Amino acid sequence: MNVQAKDSKLSTIGDYYSATQLRADRWSALRETVEALQVGGIEGRQGKKHLAEAEMLFDALAPIECYWAFPGAHAFDSMSRMLASRNIQELSHAVRRVSRALTSGAYRRRSIPIIGEDSDADDFEDESTLPPEARALGRPYFEVLIVDSVNEHQERFLRNNLHRVRRAEDPFIYEPVVVSSLEDALIGILFNHNVQAVVVRPGLTLKSKNALPILNQYLSHMTGNEDVDGLQPSDYGPETCRLIAKVRPELDAYLITDRSAEDIAGHDLGKCRRVFYNQEDFLELHLNILRGVQRRYKTPFFSALVEYSKQPTGVFHAMPISRGKSISRSHWIQDMGAFYGPNIFLAETSATSGGLDSLLEPRGPIKEAQEYASRAFGSKQTFFATNGTSTCNKIVVQALVRPGDIVLVDRDCHKSHHYGMVLAGANVVYMDSYPLHEYSMYGAVPTNEIKHHLLKLKAAGKLDRVRMVLLTNCTFDGLVYNVQRVMEECLAIKKDLVFLWDEAWFAFAAFGPTYRQRTAMGVANEMRVRLRSPEHVKAYEAQKKKLEGADDDKLLKTRLLPPPDARVRVYATQSTHKTLTSLRQGSMIHVNDQDFKGEVEQAFHEAYMTHTSTSPNYQIIASLDVGRRQVELEGFEFVQRQVESAMAIRRAVASHPLLQKYFKVLTAGDMIPEEFRESGIESYYNPEKGWSDIWDIWTSDEFVLDPTRVTLAVGGTGWDGDTFKTKILMDKYGIQINKTSRNTVLFMTNIGTTRSSVAYLIEVLVEIAHELDDLLDDASKMEKRSFENRVSALVEHVPPLPDFSRFHDAFRDGEDTPEGDIRKAFFLAYDENQCDYLNLDDKLMQRLEAGEELVSASFIIPYPPGFPILVPGQVISPEILAFMRALDVSEIHGYRPDLGLRVFTKAALKALIK
Ligand SMILES: Cc1ncc(COP(=O)(O)O)c(C=O)c1O
Repeated sequence: MNVQAKDSKLSTIGDYYSATQLRADRWSALRETVEALQVGGIEGRQGKKHLAEAEMLFDALAPIECYWAFPGAHAFDSMSRMLASRNIQELSHAVRRVSRALTSGAYRRRSIPIIGEDSDADDFEDESTLPPEARALGRPYFEVLIVDSVNEHQERFLRNNLHRVRRAEDPFIYEPVVVSSLEDALIGILFNHNVQAVVVRPGLTLKSKNALPILNQYLSHMTGNEDVDGLQPSDYGPETCRLIAKVRPELDAYLITDRSAEDIAGHDLGKCRRVFYNQEDFLELHLNILRGVQRRYKTPFFSALVEYSKQPTGVFHAMPISRGKSISRSHWIQDMGAFYGPNIFLAETSATSGGLDSLLEPRGPIKEAQEYASRAFGSKQTFFATNGTSTCNKIVVQALVRPGDIVLVDRDCHKSHHYGMVLAGANVVYMDSYPLHEYSMYGAVPTNEIKHHLLKLKAAGKLDRVRMVLLTNCTFDGLVYNVQRVMEECLAIKKDLVFLWDEAWFAFAAFGPTYRQRTAMGVANEMRVRLRSPEHVKAYEAQKKKLEGADDDKLLKTRLLPPPDARVRVYATQSTHKTLTSLRQGSMIHVNDQDFKGEVEQAFHEAYMTHTSTSPNYQIIASLDVGRRQVELEGFEFVQRQVESAMAIRRAVASHPLLQKYFKVLTAGDMIPEEFRESGIESYYNPEKGWSDIWDIWTSDEFVLDPTRVTLAVGGTGWDGDTFKTKILMDKYGIQINKTSRNTVLFMTNIGTTRSSVAYLIEVLVEIAHELDDLLDDASKMEKRSFENRVSALVEHVPPLPDFSRFHDAFRDGEDTPEGDIRKAFFLAYDENQCDYLNLDDKLMQRLEAGEELVSASFIIPYPPGFPILVPGQVISPEILAFMRALDVSEIHGYRPDLGLRVFTKAALKALIK
């Protein structure tokens, strides 16, 4: 049957972004249809229609259900037979049970009989509404994918044997799902987020029998450039293990083989945890599966803190809040104790012994927790920070940059980098991102802009001083770099460059296969292997020959390959608290630097000491540890759901006629110029064409848009971004957001975003649009004109974003290259006598236009957009002044309206030039 057929209940696959949502909706549709059959009967036109619908839904679910343990192939077949024999009563009962158990998650806690028993006696409470104690006591549930081509009898044998070896003391409970081929294994791990372990047995085949476009789409991405068709059957097993590690490296794979140990040793088995030679040793397999999951479940520091809080201790250190003593004895602050409950105070301590550890010199559970985080995020070393990525950035910059080193920085990066440059004494080259004038925001730095600067520095003989390239990935607005391309091309010009990727907004990205290919750690790990591969060496040599004597223009036009002996030196800083589970300020530094041990470790240690408190907050560290556990076990599922939620917003706004009147979700086409979109794709969703393939876009384009960050253009409502945020979304509807531009607001989904919060947002937008419609219907001619003027001021008359002008010569080392000594300028401004203040008036503009050089003595940071439009030592251009004057924001950090713009005196600059 054609599962693509459009029907009231059976939407086309094109309507769905993900198979998970498709599955959930099909079960609800089936429940509704079968209930209608039960009420209305199977006769008559309606009855026939419902029967046909039910059959169609069964056909559509069949290729999906074989990848899930619940309800399982056996129960699914039974239900299908009930339909065939028109046993509607029992079918309705069974479908209702399955559908409710799937929604509530009840199948994770106990076995749900489909046939026979009375369902309504059961209480199907939603798992998420159970009290935390009840959920904490339950054993976590997962599924194990067994890959083997077996008949029904053999499958039952496998299942029974795994059930037989269960023990009362097992910390987890799992159910097996049996699939037959390598392709099914890949579909299974991409589709079924309950899978935590895969057992690959010798009988597996290559091809899947399932032909469902949305599933096959998964498959083609994963095997896209891998030649699996040419494999020998004996290689299917090892190859499956290798591909699992590539797609979902956090999963445990077990290979059961009858090939000899020596033979297997020659294969790349990915992250295969164990190879078994005895197919029938189910207890051993069972224990290994549990141990593998336990390894990820373990939270050394959180557990140590829980244990510590249970111990009776006398507190004779300086922390009166420890064990809640200062609160319980108080007459005035009891409400604090009542609000937070006792545990947080029992866990507050300044002790570093008694099972705890010191963040500054970790040797125990913090060290272990950091090692686990390193495993999870794919780094070589990971360091926790308890005061945000602002601090992480300063640590990395200080650890790697010496005074006088040249650093290439995106000029709209977070302010912590600018301050880091001041502290380190870097000579900064600010690189311009492409501007999005229409929306008053910056994009990202094109690779050619970076190459252009590097080539100029090379020509000026300064390449040896260039130490680091620092970029924000992804940007606040969701622009994501082609990390591999940037690093490869830069390394082709200077082979030992260090990269700092500010991934403050991208910690979750390691847990989605599409995202991972654009993360710093993901690319660093790949590059370590690829650079040394014979294919790369050959390609590099060929390119080298071709580019002999090439000029800069040719180099800019060529996609450069790095030399095979280039160093992989990559750092990423992540605000775990922004996108994953962690208390505020919980952040991590991930290191993947081949020269870390030899060259950086000591300096890193000093930098870490410079910026880290000697009283780091244990609750933050514990939350980082637990956040890591979560992503290793359910990061894949949560990221997938988050993307689904965001895609639902995109789709709803793009297809709702009323919303389109006042709003627009900005698409890749709006936020990324065509020249950086090699795929040519304009948007993730198009009402006519459905979904674009995100994987294709993410493999090819220079920049892509993180779909989870939804920028909504609101200029059409007549409100600017800030008013829309505070007066409408916040005050009226209690919706919080934190980023706006002149005419946009940014909705960030996160791993906690639910389908109902998305529905609420859409409802609110529709209500706002209705109200605007009503208002305009009743408006007088003058009111209408005033509205149109406001809209056109927001949409058409947006002040152009200024480029970084340049550092004044007093802070530069020659005129050929743009780097500036920001520290010199920063500290010069400490002397009030060297500074003056100027009003932002017409007179100032006239002076600038007449060519006078006026130089900023401070950082000027308007919010929005939130990055410095002037830094100390920067020449003020007429464009920058025009932008400042046109800004109608209330917050401009560094600017004193009562005094004016702080600049250096002429005498101060002259003295430096001499
Ligand atoms: C790109 C970027 N980097 C770093 C930070 C600082 O992170 P944190 O708030 O964790 O200090 C931010 C904060 O918004 C940011 O947007």
